[in-house]
Amino acid sequence: MNDLFLRACRGEVTERRPVWIMRQAGRYLPEYRAVREKVDFLTLCKTPELAARVTLQPVEILGVDAAILFADILLPLEAMGAELVFTPGDGPTFPRPVRGREGIARLRAPAVEESLGYVFDALRLVRRELAGRVPVIGFGGTPWTLAAYLVEGGGSRHFEHLLAWSYADPAGLAELLDRIAETSLAYLSAQIDAGAQALQLFDTWGGLLDAERWRALALPPLARVVAGLAGRVPLIYYVNGGSHLLEALADLPVDVLAVDWRQPLSRVRARLGTRTLQGNLDPAALLAPVPEIERRVATLLEQGRGGGHIVNLGHGILPVTPVEHARAFVAAAQRLSAQHATEAGPAHAAR
Ligand code: CP3
Repeated sequence: MNDLFLRACRGEVTERRPVWIMRQAGRYLPEYRAVREKVDFLTLCKTPELAARVTLQPVEILGVDAAILFADILLPLEAMGAELVFTPGDGPTFPRPVRGREGIARLRAPAVEESLGYVFDALRLVRRELAGRVPVIGFGGTPWTLAAYLVEGGGSRHFEHLLAWSYADPAGLAELLDRIAETSLAYLSAQIDAGAQALQLFDTWGGLLDAERWRALALPPLARVVAGLAGRVPLIYYVNGGSHLLEALADLPVDVLAVDWRQPLSRVRARLGTRTLQGNLDPAALLAPVPEIERRVATLLEQGRGGGHIVNLGHGILPVTPVEHARAFVAAAQRLSAQHATEAGPAHAAR
């Protein structure tokens, strides 16, 4: 089995750095769009054969070092009883948002094997079809980020309902976060049982909070999920817009910290030491001409030195990205980091 990615997650010295791309199975791929022409997004998520097929597309087309299951972070909220609608162009919406304790009472703790069984079926299919070519990553949202969508009723500019609740009744919001943490833990454990070899937790909206409020509100339910999964598979925590949270994150017992592009990786490295980092090229850099992409990758590899590094973007790949550019990014990371490996070796091994 090709376990380069898993060895890098565990902080081992590797012959080169692994690379994958957040949202690698998505609309920038003509092969993905061809599947989506026939079925809507939720049907795609809920049809294991199709979800498995699009999961494999970037492995075959780009040659990435890991697959990530095709699904969505919002699916467990639907399983908890919140109606979820994806409208083309509008993104996800919850027509009946949860905005207080009466909303929490409408939610249930689902039997995940029944309500989310399609996810686990897709994972088992992916494992079988990959046959060890690369590992498969499972994922979920953090309780805070999932609550952000559920409370706002979808994406938001100011997150006023969520933030107003956080000031007016923090104990009530903590109750919601706990309920989400409980279902998330069951859901993520079942993903491991179905074959997920690593898990990534997406905290897309963690950066909304200052460090003190992040520790008070977002960290406790997240820490419960992380503790419940400890020791089973490598855990990756991704935070968007969270450069002010690095000190707070230093105590989170995950294997890999994934960050956005707004801060150079060298600065993240300086604050977090030899911990394995993942990221963090600006997704818009893949719109640049290929030689510029290659220069940016070389800089990123340089900035990532001094500890474990899994190459990725700092957020999801943009739908307008040319496939050739995504391929150039992956190839450059693989080729250039193999040259780096020998130079970086001693520093890295000295950790
Ligand atoms: O990375 C992968 O290839 C695996 C699949 C994956 C999807 N969503 C598929 C998807 C993953 C890991 C996610 C995570 C996810 N979903 C996040 C966290 C990562 C991030 O971007 O911050 C969030 C916030 C969501 C919720 C979500 N799903 C939104 C806000 C949207 C609409 C925005 C958009 O990009 O269209 C989605 C839809 C979605 N999820 C698409 C895909 C491929 C596009 C749907 C389509 O085909 O029309």
